[in-house]
Amino acid sequence: MIDNDLISKYAYLDKSAMLARVFSYPNDLKDAVSRYSGLKLQFEVPKPLKGITIAGMGGSFIGAFFLQDLLQDKWELPLFAIKDICLPAFIDRHHLLVAVSYSGNTEETIRIIVEACKKGVPTVAVTSGGLIAEHAEKLGYPVVKLPPGLAPRAAFPYILTALTAIMDYVIPSTNLTQSVAEAASFLERHCDNLLHIALDLSEWMLQNYLTNRLLVVYGYRPYLSACYRLKTQINENAKFHVFFSELPESNHNEIMGWEAPSNLFTLTVRANEEPPHLRYRMEFLLKLWSERGVPFREVRPAKGNRLEELISLFYIFDLASVLLALKRGVDPTPVETISQLKKYLDIRINLRDVLKLL
Ligand code: F6R
Repeated sequence: MIDNDLISKYAYLDKSAMLARVFSYPNDLKDAVSRYSGLKLQFEVPKPLKGITIAGMGGSFIGAFFLQDLLQDKWELPLFAIKDICLPAFIDRHHLLVAVSYSGNTEETIRIIVEACKKGVPTVAVTSGGLIAEHAEKLGYPVVKLPPGLAPRAAFPYILTALTAIMDYVIPSTNLTQSVAEAASFLERHCDNLLHIALDLSEWMLQNYLTNRLLVVYGYRPYLSACYRLKTQINENAKFHVFFSELPESNHNEIMGWEAPSNLFTLTVRANEEPPHLRYRMEFLLKLWSERGVPFREVRPAKGNRLEELISLFYIFDLASVLLALKRGVDPTPVETISQLKKYLDIRINLRDVLKLL
């Protein structure tokens, strides 16, 4: 359900309608499914196919992380998600590279594409335009077009579905895009309840931030992408620092930090049915935080299949981050410091020259 009262309440602040955008995720997912299902691409799938690598930065990376959570323990084919400027050396012409950049002008992703083209790695680009679309024909890779005019992070439903459609094209037995359509209906059925969770969460986060605390988001596979999404969405929408920590690894190092006084508060993403090896670790942490007076909360996904659970978490967290921004009096859409950095880099680096290196 789209809460029009909430949208009107914050219309004066939310100038680019980010809240309405998140409310429309179920529709955007459906629209994306109708755009991309049955996608046909003009390129040869490598034989044998040794792996798929999805590269992108920020809002254009998260879809890759999501797919890793979805598929890593189910797929035998390696699926790499990279948010970097270099193509790992093992990626050769038996791999497929999917390069995602909403704007099509992100240096890191352009450099990855250039390296892939030099090595003859079959490449597909997912973008709304920019240099990546402009150079596609010359460099010989197909483009899956994203709808224009969105903040990259708000294009998540389109990016995710474009990726599933590419997967379905490469490995037709996966049928992932059909599952996205089902997840959109699942989200529609659960969105009222998820909104309540998001409202409550945003208020709790606001109160903690107002007392100068910093949030650490904890999680484990297969929910790491959702935890990371909450971090990056709070960064970009609410303009606050947030840290992200992965279990069980942080039990072996970061946990020591709780021996010193801190101004942190924590949010943990937990499975509905948590295996004992994770439950015991969580029990220990919750006890530790209670003893040390650390404010903490837990969030669980709406009960469904893995894709539905992940989508429900993304929905809660995207809403909560936008509401946190609005409650603290900040317009969620502009990312002024990122824009300034990009302008600075534009002066220092000519991306057209990078593309000429071929
Ligand atoms: C802004 C945003 C950023 C961008 C990132 C990469 O909404 O989400 O994280 O996604 O700076 O830019 P693109 O997505 O254009 O490659």
